[in-house]
Amino acid sequence: MSELAIQGGPKAKPTKYSNPSRYGEEEKRLLCEAIDDGALMYTSGKKVREFEEAVQERFGCKHAIMTTSGSAAIHIAMAAVGVAEGDEVITTAMGDAGTTIGIVAQHAIPIFADIDLDSATATLCPKSAESLITERTKAILVVHMGGNIADLNALLEIGRKHGVAIIEDCSQAHGGKWNGKVVGTLGDMGAFSMNESKHMTTGDGGFLTTNDPERARLARLMSDKTYIRDGSVGRGDQPIPFLGLNYRPNCLIGAVALAQLDRLPARIARHAAIVERYYEGLGDAPYLALPKVLEGAEPAWWSFPARYVGESPTRDELLAALRAEGLNVGGGMSPSANALRTEMIRNKRLYPLTDTVPHFWRDTVYDPNSCPNVDEMQRTVVFHKIDERYTDEDGQQTIAGFQKVWKHYFGAG
Ligand SMILES: Cc1ncc(COP(=O)(O)O)c(C=O)c1O
Repeated sequence: MSELAIQGGPKAKPTKYSNPSRYGEEEKRLLCEAIDDGALMYTSGKKVREFEEAVQERFGCKHAIMTTSGSAAIHIAMAAVGVAEGDEVITTAMGDAGTTIGIVAQHAIPIFADIDLDSATATLCPKSAESLITERTKAILVVHMGGNIADLNALLEIGRKHGVAIIEDCSQAHGGKWNGKVVGTLGDMGAFSMNESKHMTTGDGGFLTTNDPERARLARLMSDKTYIRDGSVGRGDQPIPFLGLNYRPNCLIGAVALAQLDRLPARIARHAAIVERYYEGLGDAPYLALPKVLEGAEPAWWSFPARYVGESPTRDELLAALRAEGLNVGGGMSPSANALRTEMIRNKRLYPLTDTVPHFWRDTVYDPNSCPNVDEMQRTVVFHKIDERYTDEDGQQTIAGFQKVWKHYFGAG
């Protein structure tokens, strides 16, 4: 057995992960087309509308609205399903900050349900979410974390039973499916980020999906200062019916998004092939719990969040050994481990320069320990990002790195 790299031995992965640009000729061609259209605003150019129509067709939904980010998409979704001041929105404490921002920006109260560790999807636990429903609950915001799909049968049923909107945060699960349907089209609205790390990327960007024409109408208004753009309103006559923001992308973003949409099926397939090999290569590794997939789910893997469930060595010692082997593994599922411990939530802080708790939030009491599965997931996860650019050799060396470290510590890998 070769010596661990952390002890001075050779690396299992001596070369860097393959990292070519995720943009290419098709993006350049469509960008040129956008310029040649002579107008770049979404109202006058073509590419944003073309992207939205392509999403509608390929994802199988009636409406798609492009936005400037995933956070913007989630904020807009909150408004479009009717979330208002003092309403409660149940979500996960293990998401991106962007998962929570839109709730608070709408002056609604984020309520954090735990994740499901038994099913090992590490997504919102339906039972935990249902137990938190009150008469103030307006929506449940579920994150298909890491590209694995949450239990949508259970969550949609809870939504129906309690008259609560289900919003799917599909930022990490572009093109994933549940019972054959693309995620984001099953709940009341789907929200997607297209920041640089996502399956489809425009550097920054996002979009919304819905089958409900009224929600689509409100979402469009919310994303564009509530301006009515169908020509029915003359200059000087915009009614400005409520507070809308400027979350409009331009047609350069639309052009890149169109090209990325074409790349999506191949990317999902490549991610799936990489992950399949990880299951084969690491399925027998002791103390390593691999993510599980629910019946009906077709994940669009974005990460491979395995958990180390042993005691000794510690997870962090293992991570150090794996990293020394050259593997890109980390110890967190999300930029902040648990939303309940972020300063914004702990202090119920809306503004950067005043610590006065806003009125709508005054009576909320958060227990930082109320999502123990989130803490357990973050304490034990061996996070590995999946990327279609990885070569077969990258995949093999990654598996070899795990096996080498596991063999060293546990005698088997
Ligand atoms: C699950 C999830 N939700 C929301 C967001 C926010 O997206 P954006 O960065 O485009 O605002 C992200 C981004 O990383 C995300 O991963």
